[in-house]
Amino acid sequence: MTWTRGVYSLKAKTESNDKWRRHDLGPWIVAAPRLKSLHPCPARMIVHNRGPTIQPKPPLNDSAMSAVTKPDSTSADPYFQSLFADRIGGAGYGKGTEIYKFEKIKRAKRKALADHPDRQLLDFGIGENDSMADAKVRQVMAAEIDKPENRGYADNGVIEYKQAAADFMKRNFGVELDPATQVNHCIGSKPAYAMLPAAFINPGDITMMTVPGYPVAGTHTRYYGGEVFKLPLLAENNFLPDLDAVPDDIYRRTKLLVLNYPNSPTGKTATPEFYEKVVALAKEKQFVVVQDAAHILLSFDGKPLSFLQTPGAMDVGVEVHSMSKGYDMIGWRMGFVCGHPRIVSAFSDIKDNSDSGQFIATQKAAAAALNDDSIPERIRSKYLRRMNKLVAVLKECGFECEVPGGTYFLYAKSPTGTKSGETFAAGEDATRHLIEQFGIVTVPWDDAGAFLRFSVTYVAATEADEDALMDETKKRLGDAGLVW
Ligand SMILES: Cc1ncc(COP(=O)(O)O)c(C=O)c1O
Repeated sequence: MTWTRGVYSLKAKTESNDKWRRHDLGPWIVAAPRLKSLHPCPARMIVHNRGPTIQPKPPLNDSAMSAVTKPDSTSADPYFQSLFADRIGGAGYGKGTEIYKFEKIKRAKRKALADHPDRQLLDFGIGENDSMADAKVRQVMAAEIDKPENRGYADNGVIEYKQAAADFMKRNFGVELDPATQVNHCIGSKPAYAMLPAAFINPGDITMMTVPGYPVAGTHTRYYGGEVFKLPLLAENNFLPDLDAVPDDIYRRTKLLVLNYPNSPTGKTATPEFYEKVVALAKEKQFVVVQDAAHILLSFDGKPLSFLQTPGAMDVGVEVHSMSKGYDMIGWRMGFVCGHPRIVSAFSDIKDNSDSGQFIATQKAAAAALNDDSIPERIRSKYLRRMNKLVAVLKECGFECEVPGGTYFLYAKSPTGTKSGETFAAGEDATRHLIEQFGIVTVPWDDAGAFLRFSVTYVAATEADEDALMDETKKRLGDAGLVW
């Protein structure tokens, strides 16, 4: 090959390991000798020039310094505009005109309120529990907050929470975990998805993720130079990913498979057979499984199922649990990663370099919550009751839907228009119409077909308030005259 100035990487496959791996070789001056030394071992290799060699910044002289400190009066850009990293848009950061889905919903809500100030918004768009954490948990927090021994850095967590998590997994799923090596807390489960890619993803590696879905692990995979392979969740496949349809060259580069069951937003639960297939594939194709169990305690179609109950699952991955949904503790920011000790250890190393742990009083209060199974049972019953009411109303208004297997989300096919002649090209159009014209808020999902997501986390203090809200929903949806 001809060497041109640049930063090189080498993708190589060896006889013993049929997976492409990327090796960064550095600038061409050092790349050539390094490549020669690597050349005899790989069975196949591809060498990429990954762009121009990074030029060192010129030293600042007095005039350059004044250019830096005095912003250009003709430009609104700060002096550091060109310094933003490519992963967030480079010099174009902050200049995009795209409006994101949730911002569009906010704007439509503002317009609906301005146009109809006396009409109550029926808000099925909120993805957060509507109640405070259980009184018993708040009392533990109140007591722990006053104890001096809880004041300091928590690092990777206190044993009380790890033990409570291990006991919870044993009681609920029959899964045995060593609290010292197989459980690590996280400050809510979201940061765990931001950190796990750091443990596995090199440039060019793949994370397979289901869509629609919770995107955080994918975003961070891209931040590390990796790629996301999307697995669509379709009704015809019972909202499970079709793992047989994934091409072999994708499997060769895949390091992580992120699953989420019960699934948000489709509401589907996984089956033991599906998880068995995942374990077998993970071993055959050599990837790590991360199962997002944020909604596991809101399982409606049977006993909640943990991925780690599957024979062999502990060899291939971790499950990430959250205190947010099942314990009304969204704002408390607590969760845990559990499973294979080596993966938990890698996660805890990344975490140790990212945060100093959740406040110990919060961890102890969360441990008290995990030790009390009556709390998630009460929350599950409430959302199931609300879900039953919502499904009955939506069916009467023409929606094709049923109580989901789990989660507080109902995922229903979006109407394509109205009897009076409106047409909706996508769920997003239907959402805007329902908010602006009828004050009914939903969230559109157009990633794999056009769907609307109704959340039963609306604010209603009593069951009578729930019923009144349902009556009003039925009336307005009836007036909307939706067609499919
Ligand atoms: C599917 C899913 N996973 C993970 C999370 C993150 O939850 P938390 O960070 O509150 O634990 C959410 C939150 O909405 C979610 O819906």
